[in-house]
Amino acid sequence: MVTAGAPAPATVDLGDPDTFADHDLDGFWRTLRDTAPVYWNPPVGGRRGFWVLSRYDDIMAAYRDDLNLTSEHGNVLVTLLGGGDAGAGRMLAVTDGHRHHELRKILQRVLSPRVLSDVAAAVRANTRRLIREAVEAGGCDFAAEIASRIPMTTISNLLGVPEQDRDYLLAQTKAALSADTEDVDEVDSEMARNEILLYFMDMVEERRAAPGDDVISMLVASSIDGVPLSDEDIVLNCYSLIIGGDETSRLTMIDGVHTLAARPEQWRRLKDGEVAIDTAVDEVLRWASPTMHFGRTVVRETEVHGVRLRPGEIVTLWHASGNRDERVFERPGEFDLGRAPNKHLAFGYGPHFCLGSYLAKVEIAELLLALRDFTTGVEQTGKALRIRSNFLTGFSTLPVRLRPDPRSMKEAATQ
Ligand code: HEM
Repeated sequence: MVTAGAPAPATVDLGDPDTFADHDLDGFWRTLRDTAPVYWNPPVGGRRGFWVLSRYDDIMAAYRDDLNLTSEHGNVLVTLLGGGDAGAGRMLAVTDGHRHHELRKILQRVLSPRVLSDVAAAVRANTRRLIREAVEAGGCDFAAEIASRIPMTTISNLLGVPEQDRDYLLAQTKAALSADTEDVDEVDSEMARNEILLYFMDMVEERRAAPGDDVISMLVASSIDGVPLSDEDIVLNCYSLIIGGDETSRLTMIDGVHTLAARPEQWRRLKDGEVAIDTAVDEVLRWASPTMHFGRTVVRETEVHGVRLRPGEIVTLWHASGNRDERVFERPGEFDLGRAPNKHLAFGYGPHFCLGSYLAKVEIAELLLALRDFTTGVEQTGKALRIRSNFLTGFSTLPVRLRPDPRSMKEAATQ
């Protein structure tokens, strides 16, 4: 059954960033889930074709299957189609097997809830300050002035990035994965990725000479099977923390505020304390699904719904669809802050499940709490611009007015 109004699958190229700017793909995804759950996105120009999984259960099964599917040839379309990931076998997300297990244990130590209690307190203070200032100022670009300053500050604190370098790193991160404007192309993104790597190379050298109590110093002192991590290993994993931790959380926050501004009835539920914050955070994540896909490469022939996937072929797993799968979520097209259960796929699943999920949830929760405490609502005052990417989705600008809650603003002023 082809859904009325949905673009025909043959006319949609999921490798092309413009596809996501130009189309509302809800109908397209429903058509794939119903009629072609293992869909072949054909080659376009000189670019290879790839498999597309759109159902929640198939995505979960693929995430679990590290026997037949590997991350070591890349885990996003841009690297999978570009012939591989330079960090393969060294950067956590694109490493499998024993080394992945050992590296994950090292990084887990710095990203576990127990270790992060100070970081969480700093997130709370920083977020509340930014929201209070924006309320006092009347209006702001929520994307540039608030969301850009929460995850980046958090990761920079973790990694020990000095204050004066943060704006520079933020600009590189924005260019590295997505493009805020059409003027930024793949060459600019590649250059930005190299800039980030070079930046961390210098920091590793500094920390080897004078260790501190930050994550880089901890990585400098870590080994796997008795062999210390090399400078390159450390740099690649810092890169992965900054790339993985900044843009995803930032886009989720922007989407959350954009969605709340358009749905006063859901805002009311939040403001009146009708919904638990953790439950609301999960729905914000499901709704935003900031990473639209992740991907794997087939290493052993395997079958999904009778379709044979052959070694060397690329398989992409689409959260943008799985998180709206009506087989799993009731009324998936409704934003419902009280949704429970809500086992969304925003953080992936299985051996590569997002290592920063706790931190991301703290950041989103603190944002919702600060909005609830200091405002009576959010009003969108201008057009929100979409980023251009086949991997990430969301907005690069979001002009808003935060309506002050006079009572709590007054209390905050006296604290
Ligand atoms: C992995 C999403 C925030 C660090 C992943 C994966 C997803 C994801 C889907 C799995 C990738 C795969 O299977 O190939 C998100 C979302 C976030 C977020 C939606 C925010 C809303 C963060 C933060 C950090 C982080 C804040 C770090 C501070 C990582 C790392 C991995 C990862 C290191 C690799 C884990 C592994 O391969 O074992 N993330 N992430 N993420 N994420 Fe996140």
